[in-house]
Parts: sequence; C-alpha cells; structure tokens
Amino acid sequence: MGKFYITTPIYYVNASPHLGHAYADVLSDVLARYCRLSGDEVFFLTGTDEHGAKNVRSAEAAAENVEDFVRKRREVFVKLAKVLNISNTDFIYTSDDQRHWPGAQLLWKKIQEKGDIYKGTYKGLYCVGHEAFITEKDLEAGKCPDHNEVPQLLEEENYFFRLSRYAKEIESRIKNDELRIFPEARKNEILAVIGEGLRDVSFSRPSKDISWGIPVPGDHTQTMYVWCDALSNYLTALGYGRDDDGNFKKFWPADVHVIGKEILRFHAAIWPGMLLSAGLPLPKSILVHGLIQSGGRKMSKTLGNVVDPFELVSKYGAESLRMFFGKEIPVFSDGEFTGERFEEAHESNLVNGIGNYVKRVATMISNYFEGVLEKPEDALIASVPFKKETALSSQLSNADEKLEYLSIPYFIERNVWPKYHVEMKNFEINKAAETIFSLLKELDGYVQDYEPFKLVKTDKEKARVILWNLAYGAVSLAWMLKPFMPDTSDKILDTFSVDGKTGSEWRAFKIKTNEALFPRI
Ligand code: MSP
Repeated sequence: MGKFYITTPIYYVNASPHLGHAYADVLSDVLARYCRLSGDEVFFLTGTDEHGAKNVRSAEAAAENVEDFVRKRREVFVKLAKVLNISNTDFIYTSDDQRHWPGAQLLWKKIQEKGDIYKGTYKGLYCVGHEAFITEKDLEAGKCPDHNEVPQLLEEENYFFRLSRYAKEIESRIKNDELRIFPEARKNEILAVIGEGLRDVSFSRPSKDISWGIPVPGDHTQTMYVWCDALSNYLTALGYGRDDDGNFKKFWPADVHVIGKEILRFHAAIWPGMLLSAGLPLPKSILVHGLIQSGGRKMSKTLGNVVDPFELVSKYGAESLRMFFGKEIPVFSDGEFTGERFEEAHESNLVNGIGNYVKRVATMISNYFEGVLEKPEDALIASVPFKKETALSSQLSNADEKLEYLSIPYFIERNVWPKYHVEMKNFEINKAAETIFSLLKELDGYVQDYEPFKLVKTDKEKARVILWNLAYGAVSLAWMLKPFMPDTSDKILDTFSVDGKTGSEWRAFKIKTNEALFPRI
C-alpha cells in the first residue's frame, strides 16, 4: 500500500473535446482505478488549460467574453469526465485565481530567487496553435503543418527561463530512469533533443499583447507564458503555494504524468528544468501515449476529422468506449478509429464475448443447479482441467508445472493474474486487456471441450465441477475488467453474488440476476 499521484494533461478549452481527449482521460482512469484496487491511495488529477492566446482567439471568434467562454467550455470537459465515468479526485483550471495562481506565482518566485529568470528580447515566430515559439525549419510552405496557419512574427521584451543551465542534469535523470520515460523509444527521442542542447525559454509575454493569464510576480506589465502557467497545475492542485498544502506534502512527486507524444518536450525538458531550479523533486515517470487517428491522420479540430465522444457514449455506453480504448488502441503507438472498427469491437468483444459467456454460464447454473454452486473439493476441481494446452500455459517449459496449470483456478491465479499485473505496472493496458480476452477464449474453449449442457444428463456431478470452474473464470474476468469497465464488472460480480468490495475467497456462487450486459446495436 502506497500513494499514487497520476495526472492527465490539462486540456485547452478552445474547442470541444474529441476522442483524443477522451482517450487520455480513459487511459489515466484505467491506471488510477487499477492502483486503487491494488490498495494504493490515489490522487488523480485532471483539468483545463484556460489562458493564452489560443483561448482568447476562440472566445473572440465566438463573440463572447473570455471568462464566460472558458467557463462554459470547461463545463463540457467536466461533463466528459463524468460521462466517461472518470474517477478523478480533483479538477483544476488555470483561471482559478484562488487555487491555481498562488502556487504558479510561488514557483516563478522560487525560480527567480535561484537567478534563473532574466529579461531579454525575443525575436521569432510564434504559433498560437502550439502556444509556442517555432522555427523556420518547423514550417511547410510558410505554415505550421500541425495547425495549418502562418505563425506570428514577434519581437518583444520577455522574461526568459535559464533552461540551458539544467540540460545536463535533466539528461542524466532521464538516462538513469530517475525520471523514467515510457516507452523507451520516447526516452531516446527526448535524449536526442536534449543532447543537441537546450536553449533558454521565453517565459512571459507583454501584458499589453496578452493580458489573459497570470501576472508575473512583481511586474504586471508581463503575463506568464501559458506553458509555464499550465505545467504548474500539477503542483497547485495539491495545494502548493497555499496554506492547505497537505496533499502537496503527501503526494508530490507525481508517480506518472500521462501525456500525448506531441507535448513530450514540455514535460520532459522544460518541466524538469523548472522543478530542478525551484529545488523540487521531479516526477517519477512520464507515460507518453500515441495518438488517435482518423483517416490515417491525428484526430484534431484543425484537420477537421474529429469524432464526438458524447455521441458514441450515448449510442454504445461509456463502458464500450472505455474497453475500445483499453483493448484496441495500443498505448505506445498511434491507433486508428473508425466507426466500423468500433462497432465490430463492441459486437465481438462485448456482446458476443464477455456478455455471451457470462449469460451462458449463469443460465446453465440456474437451469441445472437451481442457481447455486457450492465450492467442490480441490481434488475434484483439478480433475477437470483444460483438455488442451492453453495459449498461456504453452509458454511454460516444465511438463509437471504445465499439467498443474491446466486446472482453471490454478491457471488463473498463477499464470493469468501475474501476467496481467506486469502489463498493468508497465502501463501497457492494451496488453492487459489482451490477456483478459485470451482468458475468455480459453474459457469458451473449455465449454466446447466438455459440453456441460450435454454432460449434465449423463454425469451431473462432473458438470457441477465444470460449471464451478466456469463461474470462477467469469468472476476472475470481472475483477480483471474492473479498471476498464467498472459497471460491467460490478454487474458480473452481482450476477454471481460476489461482493465487489472485498476479494475474499469464494465459497459459493449464487445466481442473482442474469440480464444481458450489453445492448446489441
Ligand atoms: N494544454 C496543453 C497541455 C498542458 S499540460 C500542462 C495541451 N492541451 S490539448 O488539449 O491540446 O491536448 C491535451 C492532451 O490531449 C495532450 O496530451 C494531447 O496529446 C492529447 N490529444 C489531443 N489530440 C489527440 C489525439 N488525436 N489522440 C490522442 N491524444 C491526443 O496540449
């Protein structure tokens, strides 16, 4: 039992959330729920990034005052988290001058006291879409390719952050995994960037040009750069800079920041630099996920290929979308979304997969054993093992061990669970989901091999043991599914009258309800 602090990025509110944002929420939530089930005390933070030119520009386009605009947009993100059944502990937003500003300003002061903030003139190109300075070599035909717009040419007086001073230290912390970057390929990518040298970063903008933001402490003619403001959310939500900073003492450093690959540089170079300068511990890890694509390109408002998560949820339910993200999108590479793929996954994984299995097993127990199965003796359980080597047990080399693993409970406890835990701990939730579904496949095969629905007529006692094993399988599936599909998991446990709160040993399964778990579309 320990503490676990996990964060999502804070979302820009300039546009409505799409599937990419929903994915970041769900991925983080699966991990947060998994850690909670493992007994950790979890602080799970999400929120919105509301300052900067990007949001101002969108408010102007909507002919709304910026405060009202961001508030309304924030509510959509809050609603998304609710609709997706995200178990966040807190929701921070950067225009909150009570909860967020004091900590952001304190961090600035700490960096300043260290001598790492100085005034200078910046001349360069600024991409509002990125909220970052970019260089000529980032452009295609004079435009930022990600946002399809010509960047602004700025020449202005700014404060700079002396990031260059920390390049060596950041590099070494990442190299030796004190700040661990998942996956390895992203670690190498950022090490290559750092290896080329880190330049100091412009850390403020003149208030006359951009006043929607946090005033620089001691100089209100300047507004904090939106990324400097935004990154500090990970501290401010815990109470950093406020009197009630108990959560900061308890939960910092973060165990993992979950981010998309396009914001790696901010999190793995600038953020550690800021923390080192302020004398604060670095996060333990950063999980860099791939992007949801549509039509082979990143899903984004700019490209106009967004899919609305609210629509999918209202048609298929949040659990279905959560499982699609969990199983069908590889965490560390890009994953394509299409309506057909989604529908096909819903039908095969849920309706014909989990839903069908649970219903069949529960129905057989109801029909043949009045809905009640007492636990058989261990020797009996072991007497009806898997008939064939399973995909998972075939990975074992020792013949005796192999045989033992073929008893269903043994196989689940000694083979499936350990594999699942390793995958979850490595943040590879899609692999853990695969493990769940390969267990389901083995269990389906077991039904076919023994045909308990026929056997019950000739050897009722053997059929009883087989059904015990199958129910054991169903309940184990429910526990493994819990981080992905918490409601479905509870429904399965309820079907077999298993208490969803405790993981005590199962002495009997009693069929309580047996309704279809998923609607057929
Ligand atoms: N506001 C910044 C983050 C500041 S964190 C201190 C930002 N916001 S964002 O709204 O543009 O993106 C938020 C997250 O959503 C990022 O991690 C980004 O990678 C993720 N996604 C946006 N589009 C995405 C996909 N198409 N697919 C998956 N995630 C993507 O960046």
